[in-house]
Amino acid sequence: MITGSNFINGEWVPAASGRTFTRRNPADPNDVIGTFPDSGPDDVRSAVDMLEKAAPEWAVTSPEKRAGILEKAAAVLESRSAQLISELVREEGKTTAEATMEVTRTPMNLRYYAAEATRCAGSTLPAAGETLLYTLREPIGVVGAITPWNFPLNIPSRKLGPALAVGNPVLFKPSEITPLMGQRLVEALLDGGLPPNVLALVQGGGEAGAAVAADDRVAAVTFTGSTKVGRQIHAQIGPHRRVQLEMGGKNPVVVAPDADPERAAALIIKGAFGLSGQACTGTSRVIVTPDNHDAVVEAVVARAEALRVGPGDRQDVDMGALASEQQFRKFTEYVQRGVDSGATLRCGGTVVAVGDRPGGYFVRPAVFTDAEPGMPIVDEEVFGPLLSVQRARSLDHAIDLANATEFGLSAAIVTGDLATAQMFARRSKTGLVKINQPTTGMAMNAPFGGYKASSTATFKEQAGASMIEFYLNEKTVYLNPAY
Ligand SMILES: NC(=O)c1ccc[n+]([C@@H]2O[C@H](COP(=O)([O-])OP(=O)(O)OC[C@H]3O[C@@H](n4cnc5c(N)ncnc54)[C@H](O)[C@@H]3O)[C@@H](O)[C@H]2O)c1
Repeated sequence: MITGSNFINGEWVPAASGRTFTRRNPADPNDVIGTFPDSGPDDVRSAVDMLEKAAPEWAVTSPEKRAGILEKAAAVLESRSAQLISELVREEGKTTAEATMEVTRTPMNLRYYAAEATRCAGSTLPAAGETLLYTLREPIGVVGAITPWNFPLNIPSRKLGPALAVGNPVLFKPSEITPLMGQRLVEALLDGGLPPNVLALVQGGGEAGAAVAADDRVAAVTFTGSTKVGRQIHAQIGPHRRVQLEMGGKNPVVVAPDADPERAAALIIKGAFGLSGQACTGTSRVIVTPDNHDAVVEAVVARAEALRVGPGDRQDVDMGALASEQQFRKFTEYVQRGVDSGATLRCGGTVVAVGDRPGGYFVRPAVFTDAEPGMPIVDEEVFGPLLSVQRARSLDHAIDLANATEFGLSAAIVTGDLATAQMFARRSKTGLVKINQPTTGMAMNAPFGGYKASSTATFKEQAGASMIEFYLNEKTVYLNPAY
């Protein structure tokens, strides 16, 4: 069992209040992973005191040095990958294959953003007479990073990496569901040579997160999590600080009339039940026209029933445990609400007992048909392995249904017809459009963010070159050499 700590003022310390919380293995709640500080405003205040003082020196540290530290941290993570994979499986419940993908991607992210340290240039502009007109790109100041549990290394690396690369100190508040992964990322950055006063780790839940957002000295808050919490944070920020929110999704796959049902089902299953349905870009709706509705449903149900559910540390498992008791309860409640609202439960939705892991949060993936707008399973984010199949009158109607949601993160279409694909790309009201690919999956060098209630309208990018803008201020200088 681990006794986790906060990292403030260069030291590993408990919460000022002495309070702790316990994290257990969701595949086996008898297995205690550790206790961690349950932080509050006092801890956040001490962390920001330190980061504020460190900001000027880190801002003028050479870009090469900052880049070198991130590259070394990436190498440290790689050298620890076996340990990180097994701890990630144990802490979050995902499968070993999913954990391996995340542990592999995280150092790649750090390397990608390391290079941004040397790239974030200003510009020179045409100007009258002898005036030299140019812009200076400056670090924004203390960055608060508040993150979820479903990618507890990968998502923080896409926030801490760019923030540190361009010279900002960071206050990191990981999810209380995955505190150990938060600590491991900080350890790797410190072992990579990061000055101890430019990064603070504050563990805890909503109270700690709210204190990060409330502190006026935190110049920018980057948040990934639920739309409900994102809206609360947004309300705290005010006009003079920067905020970036990546939030929920209700991501559809439209199956066009020409699509092969088996090929469509393979993409749908991957997007819907990978990561036990707990991905922000996960497929939660399938929209099919009458031509191939029944064939697609049969293919999806057959594949869902074939998925092997069990502990993520076993090789013969496709879908691991849900991440927490709260996730487990939410899933079972939505299955019931789906049935109560008149949708047809075609398979799954049941609890799975795994003999040697009593009490583990294992469920069979649920597929509903006859799902319609107005039902909770169609309108609300479940964030679990629950798929709703909607019947559309036509392709045109299918695209309207795909857009009929408050969310706008990812949407996919399955089709062999180029004109249909292009029409869908234009009409989809989402930040990501996937054609013959699952709604999940992203490239680190491409913009990533949602429309509507899935993201803030400003600074939505969480990947790609344009995301660096969030971490920088731009100042315009008019220099007249004659005076
Ligand atoms: N769009 C994306 O890129 C993306 C990626 C992953 C997850 N998500 C979303 O995240 C959600 C699941 O993650 P979760 O359950 O950790 O979300 P959550 O909103 O419950 O928690 C996210 C983080 O916010 C903190 N928090 C809780 N209350 C807070 C408050 N009042 N003020 C400040 N911080 C607070 C939590 O402790 C955690 O660190 C889903 O809605 C999912 O769609 C989105």
